[in-house]
Amino acid sequence: MRIVDSVAGYISDRPAGDIGFVPTMGALHKGHESLIARSVAESELTVASIYVNPTQFNNPDDLAAYPDTLVEDKARLESLGVDVLLLPTYSQIYPDGYRYQVEETQFSHELCGAHRAGHFTGVLTVVMKLLNIVRPRRAYFGEKDYQQYRLISDMVETFFLDVEIVPCPIVRESDGLALSSRNLNLDACSREKAPLIHQLISSELDNDEIAGRLKDSGFEVDYILSRDGRRFAAATIGRNPPVRLIDNVPLAGAGEIK
Ligand code: PAF
Repeated sequence: MRIVDSVAGYISDRPAGDIGFVPTMGALHKGHESLIARSVAESELTVASIYVNPTQFNNPDDLAAYPDTLVEDKARLESLGVDVLLLPTYSQIYPDGYRYQVEETQFSHELCGAHRAGHFTGVLTVVMKLLNIVRPRRAYFGEKDYQQYRLISDMVETFFLDVEIVPCPIVRESDGLALSSRNLNLDACSREKAPLIHQLISSELDNDEIAGRLKDSGFEVDYILSRDGRRFAAATIGRNPPVRLIDNVPLAGAGEIK
């Protein structure tokens, strides 16, 4: 695996051809593994990036607590068959100091966007930059961040970018908890409660009842909402640090709206 720690270095020797790209913020888990495996299976070359993008963190404590497992991540990517790992820095990604931003003005303010000011502008801006640097044929995103996937997919269409955005199904623990890098920060008690989110949103209960039950179990609930044939949840559990979890499931009987 070739490790490239500079954007200029990547661009001056940019891999060409049928490239699959998996952008990540590190702290890799089996969800990321599934994206990489899909890219490796479908592409001549797989490029991954690890970049903890500060502009998408609305809360500095969340950024500070974000897990860092770079040594293990590199070994994992290499063993999965990644060909190139891009490890950019802030000044390389944001030579403009984040003066230029990609903003979506509607859906990005709903669901998570209603609770995380500026989050999706940070995501869309960094993804636009990474796609322009890497120039992949396909880029892979997990459906746990379903709103992110939809916003990126619409951005690509809107700006006529020549890349296919490939959604990949959520990978879960055996108790139903959706894999997330943030799960590493769950203390034992919160980890025990965390699968409740998936259990409840997969049940017949209505959204208000689910929110009530989560609150009774110690969660702070941002939203339980149904739209586009899915039920979406975001809730925070624990104190040290508080861990915000998101999840979504297709609604029974509802066709997927793409
Ligand atoms: O899903 C993520 O890990 C991040 O939001 C992404 C797409 C790598 C952009 O920083």
